[in-house]
Amino acid sequence: MRTIISLPLAGLFVFLAGFNPWIMLTGRGRSPRSRRLLTHAHRICGYTFIALFAIFCYFMLLRVRGSSDELSPRIILHMALAFALAPLLLAKVIVVRYQKAAWGVLIALGLSIFVTAFTLVTLNVSVHYLRNAAPHKVPFSISLRVVAAVIIAAIVALLTRHRQTKSTANTANVSAKEPPDRESTNQLEL
Ligand code: HEM
Repeated sequence: MRTIISLPLAGLFVFLAGFNPWIMLTGRGRSPRSRRLLTHAHRICGYTFIALFAIFCYFMLLRVRGSSDELSPRIILHMALAFALAPLLLAKVIVVRYQKAAWGVLIALGLSIFVTAFTLVTLNVSVHYLRNAAPHKVPFSISLRVVAAVIIAAIVALLTRHRQTKSTANTANVSAKEPPDRESTNQLEL
């Protein structure tokens, strides 16, 4: 697959893997309607992710087929992470369908899927870009800007945290008490 196609798809893949836990862990909206919509969005994103995963696996296996040389450690790690995603996704769908009240298990599986997908993609993308980068010394002004941007981002995160404290506390209460969306639980059972 060409980089111009695979790169945006890989970005979408990581985005979906991160967006889904975000939907579930941020309380899924305040009204029942927004909860229903976000739960639908979660399922659509989940199955889009699974479809992308299957397509990527197919092309990955096509690329290594018939190669007589031993694969590099990076490719082996990349493939191991990809293979690990399959049982994690299968377990996620099984727990959602048969043990929906196991909220802790769903969070653990969802976050593991995100971490695995993120590492799988960033490992290859970072190696690709670092290899193509010029080996010259980076100007001091650029390093200074990077450090300044990180410090500003940390300060912004620190200041916004105070405003979020109340809503986060509410979300935590809701999440602890009522794991999945009751309405969609009923829909699934029907
Ligand atoms: C904190 C992480 C996560 C939690 C707590 C969580 C929780 C849930 C819940 C409660 C449902 C049922 C929704 C409904 O009422 O219909 C669901 C469905 C689903 N989730 Fe997640 N999820 C998480 C992360 C993920 C991730 C990362 C993926 C894949 C990218 C994913 C894929 C799916 C899929 C495909 C479904 C639909 C399963 C089916 O009903 O057939 N989830 N999830």
